[in-house]
Amino acid sequence: MLSVSGLDVAYGRARVLFGVGLEVPAGSLVCVMGRNGVGKTTLLRALMGVLTPTAGRVVFDGEDVTRLPTHLRVRAGMAYVPQGHVSFPQLTAWENLRVTLEATTHRDPVAVDEALDVFPALRGLLKRPAGFLSGGQRQQLAIARALVARPRLLLLDEPTEGVQPSVIDEIEAAVERLHREVGLTVLLVEQYLDFALRLADRYVVVDAGEVVRAGAAEELHDEEVRRLLAV
Ligand SMILES: Nc1ncnc2c1ncn2[C@@H]1O[C@H](COP(=O)(O)OP(=O)(O)OP(=O)(O)O)[C@@H](O)[C@H]1O
Ligand SMILES: [Mg+2]
Repeated sequence: MLSVSGLDVAYGRARVLFGVGLEVPAGSLVCVMGRNGVGKTTLLRALMGVLTPTAGRVVFDGEDVTRLPTHLRVRAGMAYVPQGHVSFPQLTAWENLRVTLEATTHRDPVAVDEALDVFPALRGLLKRPAGFLSGGQRQQLAIARALVARPRLLLLDEPTEGVQPSVIDEIEAAVERLHREVGLTVLLVEQYLDFALRLADRYVVVDAGEVVRAGAAEELHDEEVRRLLAV
């Protein structure tokens, strides 16, 4: 579904990604792992067109989207949940979902209900400004907003960061359901290893802006990942 090759990305003169390549087959859940600052978020930004790569190609569903603006990638079926539980803090949870709906091409209000079915705990919080939600609740809202667009590929950047364990379990169950039951293809960036290894069927390990290991989850041993990710 997503095929990335030879991706170079820089901030000004500082190069961050060097020839990154990866494959996200339709229906898979691929986990990108790597230590802090190796370029995981930069990779997702480049995949969404928030950053323009200096070299390489991003192909989504057979179409070269390397130069396509972000909103057209979203329209094509890609969704992105950035790191850090981003939503409009002054708007209520409900308004956050509605605003997202207005930006979709389908504008089908049923999509909001479908997103809330994935995170039923949000139903009791809909009148609350997003800024007053907990980190875990905001993360759930952020994923729910991405789902309102009814994407086929979901890019998630560290959904467990700053989230308490009980909510991590809810997020894990939701991602698992979206992947196994709804058939959503997921590219997950995650440093919380147990979470990543439980969910992923393929993995990509990034170090210093390069892919240093990739393959099927069965091929990856816990000790090897821990060694690759060790500081
Ligand atoms: N806007 C920016 N301008 C300049 N350099 C940046 C910018 N954003 C990130 N960087 C640098 O690019 C490198 C990769 O950052 P990135 O955020 O992609 O890493 P990451 O793997 O997502 O880290 P983390 O695990 O902490 O989220 C880091 O050295 C970072 O300092
Ligand atoms: Mg990051």
